[in-house]
This record gives sequence, structure tokens and C-alpha cells, in this order.
Amino acid sequence: MLQQVTNILIVDDDRSLRKMLAFVLGKEGYGVEEAVSGVDALKKLKGRNFDLVISDIRMPDLNGIELLKKIKTHDPEMPVIMITAYATTNDAIEAMKLGAEDYIMKPFSLEELKIIINKSLHKKNIERENVELKEKLSAKEKFENIVGADPKMRKIFELIDTIAQTDSTILISGESGTGKELIARAIHGKSSRSGQKFISINCGALPENLLESELFGHKKGSFTDAYQDKEGLFETANHGTLFLDEISEMSQKMQVKVLRAIQEKVIRRVGGNQEIQVDVRIITATNRDLVQSIEKGEFRSDLYYRLNVISIKLPPLRERKEDIPILMQYFLLRYNKKFAKNILGFEKEVLECFQNYSWPGNVRELENFIERGIALEKGSIISAGSLPAEVIYNLEAAPAKAADWQGMLDLGQFNFSQYIDDISKSIIFRALAMNNGNIKKTAAALQVNYRSLRYLIEKFKLKFHS
Ligand SMILES: Nc1ncnc2c1ncn2[C@@H]1O[C@H](COP(=O)(O)OP(=O)(O)OP(=O)(O)O)[C@@H](O)[C@H]1O
Ligand SMILES: [Mg+2]
Repeated sequence: MLQQVTNILIVDDDRSLRKMLAFVLGKEGYGVEEAVSGVDALKKLKGRNFDLVISDIRMPDLNGIELLKKIKTHDPEMPVIMITAYATTNDAIEAMKLGAEDYIMKPFSLEELKIIINKSLHKKNIERENVELKEKLSAKEKFENIVGADPKMRKIFELIDTIAQTDSTILISGESGTGKELIARAIHGKSSRSGQKFISINCGALPENLLESELFGHKKGSFTDAYQDKEGLFETANHGTLFLDEISEMSQKMQVKVLRAIQEKVIRRVGGNQEIQVDVRIITATNRDLVQSIEKGEFRSDLYYRLNVISIKLPPLRERKEDIPILMQYFLLRYNKKFAKNILGFEKEVLECFQNYSWPGNVRELENFIERGIALEKGSIISAGSLPAEVIYNLEAAPAKAADWQGMLDLGQFNFSQYIDDISKSIIFRALAMNNGNIKKTAAALQVNYRSLRYLIEKFKLKFHS
């Protein structure tokens, strides 16, 4: 794939500062062009596409503020970073009001400038990605309420389309949080039964007797608490769909009763002797391997074959990584709406962490992270620092580049303590992640004393949930 170069225009009448910036940013891999004045900048902006403008405020002929106004009328999306001297903070405030992306005050360290540049470019990228993903989400990667771009999920969507109209029983298997209930609802929604009820019951949540009377109903007086006749869920779901969740948790006795209800399409209320005809479609779900349960004698094989006419196996999230970015976007939209927020997106490290994480709780876990992230985030982007330590575990904090310091030193721009700080920060970040945010363990691992580590964590603003 063609690597796209990011182009930056540097506008400054101060030759030495301009050359220095051009040199450093060029080494960072940016395409850099210099303009000696506001007028010169406008000329260069017409000739070529730039991704970012960095401009001094005080300049002869057209000053930075005037230049900013002109850029914003032509190209409101163009990020512009202003350079200002300490004495002219009012100019900086004015510039921000006029739509500057950010400003940096002289004297500044190159690290500071790089961070601001990265942030501005990243925000621009996120905005663009947002638009693209929104378009995708509204089109083909959403099926009912189910998001999925991975080929395995697309196959499942196709399968649902073909089987929804039939009355076959369906067994959905998959780890917890993979979307089994969502799939069951989608099947019902696409079937000719969609105008009727979808009833869901967790077979693992009730003791045997209660489950029996829930499913089949009871006659008044059939047991101590049966004060009146009660309809069961098979009857309530008549002409609709009955979703039996955690089917493996049903007792042997209940397995026999359910098998009979499915085979004969009649049920009998507890304590009653009248046979009641029911027409329900049965969808079941399990997060256990039923074949193993059969081998252990815990699950009846005849029921299994009845339930497993059509089998849908939902892959765990770690086996469909393509779905991660699109699910992130989907939940971003949903929870922005819920909390009336306008968070733009995620720092790119968040996606990296997410793609390396194993997701034991699958999509539900991802959804919970994003819900919490959006609820708590104070800025406009969800940052990796706010993720739980186990998720960051795999993230390698970018190590400071060893080559950089020599060039900076040659230019008289090298800041020793800043450089050492950057390296320390990256090591501490990594060590904390490896120790689940536990400061004591991290101190031991790094062989430093607890209090100095605490001091550094605060200094570097490293946040961890432990
Ligand atoms: N592909 C998906 N697209 C959008 N949301 C999803 C997707 N998969 C799961 N979810 C969401 O994740 C959460 C868990 O889904 P669901 O309850 O269907 O999982 P489950 O497999 O039934 O889990 P459990 O085994 O724990 O009952 C729900 O909030 C659901 O909306
Ligand atoms: Mg479920």
C-alpha cells in the first residue's frame, strides 16, 4: 500500500526557528514546506495540499491572526497551530476563538510541539474515520441490531436470512457475551412470527419446580403458593418464539418435559390434566459444549438432536478482530446519545490495546468499557490511559527514539531532563501495565523505592485502575 505522507506548512519570518522546525519535523517523516510570511503562506497553500499549518502570530505584512482567518474561510477543516510569545497570550486566545486547533508558547520544547502536532492530526483523522464508519454502519455492516464485518459474522447473517422463515428449532452456542440473545431476537424479528411475542427465559436462573411452572403454568392449588391458575410461557409465546437460554442448566426431569412439549406441541399445566395445543418456535442457547454434557450423562441426546436442527456457533470476539473497530464506533454512537455527550472517538492506542486483548467477556465486555469510558471521559477523545490495566497490558509504550537526541543536540535544542523523563515514563508505564497497576509490585520489579515511584506516576499523570 502506498504510504501517505503528512504535509505540514511552517510559517515564520524568523529564519532560524523556521529552519529548525523544518529540520526536526522532516526527520519525523513529515513532508515539510516553509513560508517566510503570511502572504507567502497563502500562495503555498494554493499550490499544494497540506494537512496542517503551524504559524507564528507576530509577522510583518499579513500576521498570523489574519492568515488564520483567511485559511478558515477557504478551508474550515484545516488544523492550524499558532506559535506565540509569552507576552502575547491575548493573541493566542483570539486565535483559538477564530478556530485555531491549538497554540504553543515560546520557548517550547520539541517534545511539546510534537505532542500538539500529533494530537491535531489525530483529531483530524478521527473525524474523517468517524464519517467513514458512520456511513459503513448505516449500510451493510449492520444486520438488524447486530454489527459485524468479519466474514464469520457475515455468514451467520446470511444463515439467519435463510432460516428465519422456517419453523426449525435453532441452537445458538457461544461464550458469554457473544450476542446469542441478540441473534435469537434477530431471527424472531425476521420471521413471519415477528408480529407475535418473543419470550426469553434463563433456564439456569430458577430451581426446577419454579422453572416448570414458569414454562408450563399451573392450576390453582397444585402447590402451596399456587393461589390461582397461571398461564406458562409456552402459552404466552403461542404463535411467537420462545427463547430458552442456558439450556444446559435444565434438570433431567425438565429436559424430558421440554422434549415432549417440542415433539407433541402440547403442554399440560402443573396440577392440570388438560392438554393445551401450542405453536411456538423454539430457539435455545448455551455457553457450554452440549456434546460434552451428553458424554458426561448430564444432557439428553434425544433433546439435543431436537434442539440442534440448525446450529449457529458464535465465534468469540478475539477470533473476529475485524469487528472490534466497528463495534467501538457503534457503541460510541449509542452511548454518546445515552449520555448526551459528543466524544469524537478513541486515541489510536486504544484500538491497539483492544485488538491485542483477549476479551473473556466478549462483546458485552467491550460494550461495558466503552459505556464507562464515555461516561467518565472529560476530554473529546477516549484515551488509553483511562483503560483498565489488563487491557493495556499488551501495549508497548512508544520508547523514546535514540536517534533523535543527537540531531537535537547539534541544533542546540536538546533538553536532557525532558529526554530522560520520556524514557522513564515509557518504562514505568510498561511496568505498571505488567503489574496490573499495582504500585508496590511495580516498585519491586523496577527496584526503586515505593515513594519515588509514586511521585513519578503523579508527575507523568499515569492513570491505572487496579
Ligand atoms: N454483534 C453485536 N453487535 C452489537 N451489539 C452486540 C453484538 N454482540 C453482542 N452485542 C451486545 O453485547 C451484549 C451481550 O449480548 P447478548 O446478551 O446477546 O450475549 P449472550 O451471548 O446472550 O451473553 P450471555 O451468554 O452472557 O447471556 C448486549 O448488550 C448486546 O446488545
Ligand atoms: Mg444471553
